[in-house]
Amino acid sequence: MLALILLVLGLALAFQCYALFLFAFIAAIALRAYTSKLDSRNRQRRAGLLQALGRPANRTTKIVGFFHPYCNAGGGGERVLWTAIASIQRTNPDLVSIVYSGDVDASKEEIIAKVKSRFAINLDPSLLDFVFLKSRHLVEDSAWPRFTLLGQSLGSMYLAWEAMSLLIPDLYIDTMGYAFTFPVVIALGRIPCGAYVHYPTISTDMLARVRSRRDWHTNSNSISSSPILTWGKLLYYRIFMYYYAASLCSASFVMANSTWTKTHVDSILKHSDPLLAFLHLPFRLLSLALPRREKSAESALRVYPPCDTKEMEKYPLDGREPIIISVAQFRPEKDHIAQLRAFHTLLQTHPEHRGTVKLLLIGGSRNAGDAARVDCLRDLAVQLGIQESVQFKINAPYAEMLNDLGRSSIGLSTMVDEHFGINVVEYMAAGVIPVAHASAGPLLDIVVPWEGQPTGFHAKTPEQYAEQFHHVLTLPKEEDLALRERARTTAVRRFSEAEFERTWNASRWYDWIL
Ligand SMILES: *[C@@H]1O[C@H](CO)[C@@H](O)[C@H](O)[C@H]1NC(C)=O
Ligand SMILES: *[C@@H]1O[C@H](CO)[C@@H](O)[C@H](O)[C@H]1NC(C)=O
Ligand SMILES: *[C@@H]1O[C@H](CO)[C@@H](O)[C@H](O)[C@H]1NC(C)=O
Repeated sequence: MLALILLVLGLALAFQCYALFLFAFIAAIALRAYTSKLDSRNRQRRAGLLQALGRPANRTTKIVGFFHPYCNAGGGGERVLWTAIASIQRTNPDLVSIVYSGDVDASKEEIIAKVKSRFAINLDPSLLDFVFLKSRHLVEDSAWPRFTLLGQSLGSMYLAWEAMSLLIPDLYIDTMGYAFTFPVVIALGRIPCGAYVHYPTISTDMLARVRSRRDWHTNSNSISSSPILTWGKLLYYRIFMYYYAASLCSASFVMANSTWTKTHVDSILKHSDPLLAFLHLPFRLLSLALPRREKSAESALRVYPPCDTKEMEKYPLDGREPIIISVAQFRPEKDHIAQLRAFHTLLQTHPEHRGTVKLLLIGGSRNAGDAARVDCLRDLAVQLGIQESVQFKINAPYAEMLNDLGRSSIGLSTMVDEHFGINVVEYMAAGVIPVAHASAGPLLDIVVPWEGQPTGFHAKTPEQYAEQFHHVLTLPKEEDLALRERARTTAVRRFSEAEFERTWNASRWYDWIL
């Protein structure tokens, strides 16, 4: 009986393998035929594009393609994109950049004008063009209420297919985190790929969290309470991670926007899953149809995004008022409660500051939840008996916030494991001495020594925060000024456009195209 079952299982397995190999073989032949058709169409498209830009038609111009479907959004990710393109235009005037964009309702001129007004970045229209993609809705999370990660990834692969069928560049750089587009681009375009990663799509942390069955945002309660569903979800993530890692590994160079992201990307690049690798084996046949892969990236290069600190740099460093300022949206993870407790502890342990030192909480309130949180915080201030010294400013105008930064002494940030912390950079650029939570971005990237000297302070408990406040408030004048100067210098230099361009260049992206 057992022998019979084993025989049937064996036959089924053999047949499955055979079917898979046959499928892979046919797919490889079909792919080859499709790409040669794509190639001949692409030659005409390129000639047309270069001619429209007024470039000589003798095919010496190379094209860098940036995959950024939301290029008109005006956020931090877009600043990275446009700064990179402006830098390429300046240093390699023979290269044409194209952006794959889903902003079909904006024209080239409108996008360039918006970049100028929003970021003060001047782009040369004769070295830039856009390829507009119609299927951007496929990468929106609203399109995939269930299996969002998988759905968006498949959607991005389809979008990359649309992109390649419209125009194949000589080098492809994804600046939005769609790593699953690389296999498509390599298969159809047979060109090198690079990535600038803001945030890994899935991280080894996420796997560990499902494994330990903790509740968290994408893990609804019904799943974390049932072992079978947990197991299913774990398997889903495991398979997803295998293919995500494989896609990311097919990039020739990878950049990460912070130490936190680099650490995660590096562990993904090293990720291995022998069982899934074995099951995947038949599909390797497909790679026969692909060009021989060049060396791929082994680790990510950290390239900080440029931060705009021009406004903050204007304020004088001396004559600061004894104000502890916090600039943060009233979201739970910002942990404003810890700010009130830290301030309360300062007034308890160093009563001499009572009446002089103020705590100023500035932040946006987006909705009823935020507004309720602000009410709770006001109540807490009353309970702690510090309400006289605490001021709230909700949704204050930008200019007012800048002005407050310019007169404050200490900048407070209490969020735990914040990946970056742009507000801490802004404190420092404004000459405000930061006291930030000792974790992630503020610890590893931002409040770090400059020329061996401190640029601010870290803390975890209310007592530690209170001690650091007291330390800063009682610094001798020269030391206080020197510290503010260093804080400003490090923020402005490390997160400047020039530094971004220098490190972006250090990725040696040009080795893959020039
Ligand atoms: C390409 O054409 C331009 C003029 O049309 C000419 O100046 C240039 O030398 C040509 N380049 C090559 C490599 O033939
Ligand atoms: C990197 O990108 C993530 C996701 O957009 C963002 O939360 C983080 O602040 C960024 N880091 C830097 C250094 O800008
Ligand atoms: C980029 O690096 C290359 C090679 O190291 C160098 O020749 C080039 O001048 C650099 N460009 C910039 C803008 O730093």
